[in-house]
Amino acid sequence: MKHDIRSLALANKGKDRIEWAGQSMPVVLSIRKNFSRTKPLKGVRIGACLHVTSETANLMITLKEGGAHVSLCASNPLSTQDEVAASLVKHYGIPVFAVNGENSKQYYRHIQAVLATNPQVTMDDGADLISTLHRTRDPRPETRDSIWGSTEETTTGVIRLKSLEKEGKLQFPIIAVNEAQTKHLFDNRYGTGQSTLDGIIRATNHLIAGQIFVVAGYGWCGKGVAMRAKGLGAQVIVTEVEPLRALEAVMDGFSVKTMAEAAPIGNIFVTLTGDRDVIRKEHFLKMKDGAILANSGHFDIEIDIAALKKLSRKTQRIRSFVDEYILQNRKKIYVLAEGRLVNLAAAEGHPASVMDLSFANQSLSAEYIARHHDNLGRKVYAVPEPIDREIARLKLEAMQISIDQLTPVQKGYLESWQLGT
Ligand code: ADE
Repeated sequence: MKHDIRSLALANKGKDRIEWAGQSMPVVLSIRKNFSRTKPLKGVRIGACLHVTSETANLMITLKEGGAHVSLCASNPLSTQDEVAASLVKHYGIPVFAVNGENSKQYYRHIQAVLATNPQVTMDDGADLISTLHRTRDPRPETRDSIWGSTEETTTGVIRLKSLEKEGKLQFPIIAVNEAQTKHLFDNRYGTGQSTLDGIIRATNHLIAGQIFVVAGYGWCGKGVAMRAKGLGAQVIVTEVEPLRALEAVMDGFSVKTMAEAAPIGNIFVTLTGDRDVIRKEHFLKMKDGAILANSGHFDIEIDIAALKKLSRKTQRIRSFVDEYILQNRKKIYVLAEGRLVNLAAAEGHPASVMDLSFANQSLSAEYIARHHDNLGRKVYAVPEPIDREIARLKLEAMQISIDQLTPVQKGYLESWQLGT
């Protein structure tokens, strides 16, 4: 079996991690049990480009249990857990092409290795695999033609794919897993909220209490980070470009400012906007000595590191995941995890119990594509509502939480228009 990983010698440690994560993924495990019986993915080739973590491993094992032939590459060069990759190859017979710290050339070579398996269903986190396939220079038009459909995990990827759809260039259907309520309301908010703080704390060992903590972007991810930073005792400032979100942040009790206003005040800055150059030259120049910058948006473009380098007389790595930039004005600025996803590079990404929901959506969306691809167009679809609801129901059941049922009279009341004041 072809693969490209750090070392098979790491496999036993990886297996322990995979099993540990699996214990907190009851919904995925119940889907696995069902897949194992019914084999809805029998013979289907699935190519996935996801963060190679212990949680993703549980998704891959579930798809394989459903009868699929799966292969996996990384969706970020710094998030791969090498021991997990090794265990997937050695213990589960799943081809993995991912090495933590791989360079851009190797990263895209690994995407090509997954495409070489001629997948019928693909899974993306950030749309790098799909956009590779859609580039005119891509050497594999035949691969593109054999794809039934793809899933997309994250906000940034869905934005990219909707723009492909708008230009009329999308070549196959997409199920936007991120649009499921059981995905973005939980993974983006509670997952990013906790894991981003986890990454910052592991990288710096700083106390968050008493810090002035600037959160750029008040989408679901930004909301989660702002909430958790506040919970740890920071004074939180939010920056936004959307009036509605800015207003929401104000009503949630946060101070809202422009980045130009926040730059000279903040101690820690986190970007989660999905856009580029959110913190740039004019902001670096105003920052306090010792300011810490991190990104938890999908790509490493939110902090303009090239501009920071140009402003600096010296740059050095002073701790794992902490780069020190000494500016011409002698002030020091620290960038965590090279401006890449701090939660996945310096910590372990979202905890398993929240990835349980996201990857339940991935599993059932893959099954949906396998069953319905003949009736799907070249569009970006939401996860079907019944799947979303069923995942919430299964999670509540696993948490042993019961909810009320409507009485027939209540149901009738909600369905009628006659009764009023
Ligand atoms: N995205 C965020 N956290 C993740 C995790 N733990 N595994 C896979 N993808 C993720």
